[in-house]
Amino acid sequence: MLTRRDVLRSAAAGAAALAVPPLARAGQKKEFTLPKLPYAYEALEPVVDAETMTIHHTKHHQAYVDNLNKALAADAPDALGKDLVELVRDYKKLPEKVQTAVRNNGGGHLNHTWFWQMMTKPGGAGPKGDLAKAIDASFGTVDGFKKEFLAAATGQFGSGWAWLVVGKDKPLAVAKTANQDNPVMDGQTPLLGVDVWEHAYYLKYRNLRAKYVEAWYGVVNWDFVADLFAKAGKK
Ligand SMILES: [Fe+2]
Repeated sequence: MLTRRDVLRSAAAGAAALAVPPLARAGQKKEFTLPKLPYAYEALEPVVDAETMTIHHTKHHQAYVDNLNKALAADAPDALGKDLVELVRDYKKLPEKVQTAVRNNGGGHLNHTWFWQMMTKPGGAGPKGDLAKAIDASFGTVDGFKKEFLAAATGQFGSGWAWLVVGKDKPLAVAKTANQDNPVMDGQTPLLGVDVWEHAYYLKYRNLRAKYVEAWYGVVNWDFVADLFAKAGKK
């Protein structure tokens, strides 16, 4: 038979259990979260308009994060909170049921997390130092790189990305990926990526992708690219 003390103890334990936030419970893994932008939504105007930036970040990127968490919680909870690059690179090692969701949504989360940092307000200087030398050695000139990169971005059929990656034969190379694939899935190291999904430009540029990527080149954060290049050399 329950004593009054038993009843009180049981009630207190129940209240304590309810008060613990779901993610703080023992054994539960940390979810992925939407990173803040390193600048205001209007910072890239007039190249990328504030409305596009807001929807892109708060709706599209948020959806990749939410769908990634949902898929992992359901079918691969041990992968929650893992290093994002490793998760995306090694998605084929996950249970088969969750691979497509991680490829699409983990890729989307990683691509956009880098994409925001690869941009800065218009009017910045171009590549310099070791990065400029590597671009010259790989593409002849910076303009030669720009031409090849923008051609890849414009020519990507359907949704996807164009990239500057660490090269195999030359220091650097241009690559393309479909959908939300990332070069790390092919063992490559990306340094710069441009999002050519219509959600990245349609409000302002409509169907004119070439016009968008030409303008977009003017908001590249070359300091960030140079930093990635320096880190890639130290691997
Ligand atoms: Fe996007």
